Amino acid sequence: MRNEGARVAVEFDGGEVGLLSMRWLRLACECDICGDTASGKRWLTPADVPADVRASAVEISPAGDMDVTWQDGHVSRFAAGFLAAHVGSAGAPRFQPQLWSSDLSGRLGRFVFDAVIEDDEALFLSLRALRDHGIAMLTGVPAEPEATLRVAGRYGPVRETSYGKVFDLISRPDARVAGETARAQIPHTDEPFRYSPPGFIFFHAVRTGAGSGGTSLMVDGFQVAEQMRRTRPHLFDLLTRYGVTFHREHAGEVFFSAEAHVISLDASGAVTGIRFNDRCLAPQAGSIENIDRLIEALAQLTRLICDPQNQFQHQLQPGEVLVFDNQRVLHGRTAFDPTLAVRHLRSCNLDRDGVHSTFRTLARRFAPQEAEPVLYQGAIL
Ligand SMILES: [Fe+2]
Repeated sequence: MRNEGARVAVEFDGGEVGLLSMRWLRLACECDICGDTASGKRWLTPADVPADVRASAVEISPAGDMDVTWQDGHVSRFAAGFLAAHVGSAGAPRFQPQLWSSDLSGRLGRFVFDAVIEDDEALFLSLRALRDHGIAMLTGVPAEPEATLRVAGRYGPVRETSYGKVFDLISRPDARVAGETARAQIPHTDEPFRYSPPGFIFFHAVRTGAGSGGTSLMVDGFQVAEQMRRTRPHLFDLLTRYGVTFHREHAGEVFFSAEAHVISLDASGAVTGIRFNDRCLAPQAGSIENIDRLIEALAQLTRLICDPQNQFQHQLQPGEVLVFDNQRVLHGRTAFDPTLAVRHLRSCNLDRDGVHSTFRTLARRFAPQEAEPVLYQGAIL
């Protein structure tokens, strides 16, 4: 360890040397006086740390902890593990999702209702599958509405929507939304017209018309986005930089409208979220020079979403629940014959950050190294 004024160089047992900024280190102090950032009982602010803050003494304890005495007399202690985690890192590690196409079946995580309800580790494994693939399946889920809510509630708080907490999608002739008709639906994300669309969706198959169509079509939006980045980079770029407007209006009741990117990127350029539903696209605003290119980008995305090679197809059976990340995975279905069978799906929505919070909390117990990496944070405006 060497105190270099604005920096401290830390050498580890293996011989690697890393640098830490003194200003960063002073701000990282979580002693009783400075307070704790995780709980928010925090008293030191960034403005309290001068740009030229310096240590008057730095010592390493036999256990490898570092004690810093600052020029104003304040003392900070940093644990060896904390130093190892931050020295030389360009930023927090980022989780890399596993992309899939029509080949998902062999990798799709399947979890039994009773286990997910009773066993935290089984719940954790299903959350890990959701993190990796954005989709998982639950089996053996009883048909009662309480069972849907009970299992969904294990993953995080259920979001109350204009339809309540649980919404029954039953095919009917006086359909109010497309989900209640028997028509085919192009894979889409739900409610892109909200600033913050539903995070995770549970689709509980209560009754299905076996043999009469209604096959679920699931698409990994991240895989499709990467395909577009590779093959049509200009169109990909448009969808990450220009806002697209989605809307929903029932006269006198609701009027949602959101202008947002179809493909969201993080600061490193990685895809973090998708929002797209061809049926809610408003007439787009834009200059006459740009508008046709934007529409071509939306058309190309639609072609990729409709390509069977990008679709995992599954005929839902009663008792199955498909859980998916609505800001990554697009869902649709083939048409079915409403005279042959009534199709009854029950659905509920969870906020994304609530589900990720449950994942991290359980990861602390079952796989501590998986609790910290930054997860893809969804469709942002
Ligand atoms: Fe939908």
